[in-house]
Amino acid sequence: MAVERTLSIIKPDAVAKNVIGELYTRFEKAGLKIVAARMVHLSREQAEGFYAVHKDRPFFNDLVGFMTSGPVMVQVLEGEDAIRKNRDIMGATNPKEALAGTIRHDYAESIDANAAHGSDAPETAAQEIDYFFKADEICSR
Ligand code: TYD
Repeated sequence: MAVERTLSIIKPDAVAKNVIGELYTRFEKAGLKIVAARMVHLSREQAEGFYAVHKDRPFFNDLVGFMTSGPVMVQVLEGEDAIRKNRDIMGATNPKEALAGTIRHDYAESIDANAAHGSDAPETAAQEIDYFFKADEICSR
């Protein structure tokens, strides 16, 4: 299985719940390394750009409002099968469907405030990492 990188965001609801460390522990216990990280309070433009693929969806405006409602923690996770592993750790988009023990099951209140983001494929992972980090800000180890 190839070593991959994926973009993870701990969303404003989970940051507000003070569980950044708890989520980092879950990533690390799954064998994923945090190779870049930054806390940022996204501007409207940054959130709209990040979620541009959803711009015509009915939930877009609320999603942007939520993502700009407080600081987020953005990180690059590296490891074998990192994209799928991170998605598994996060659980289903809708927390009502998320398996017990996943981040969204344990910390998300609703589909629109769902605690975490993770890239869903190699192409989107590369784009999303690029959106937040310059190459020399990623410390592979
Ligand atoms: P999506 O890319 O489908 O899910 P995921 O985050 O699991 O990759 O959707 C992006 C975000 O948009 C999702 O995390 C929360 C929000 N969203 C809603 O608010 N309502 C919805 O019906 C959907 C599908 C997503």
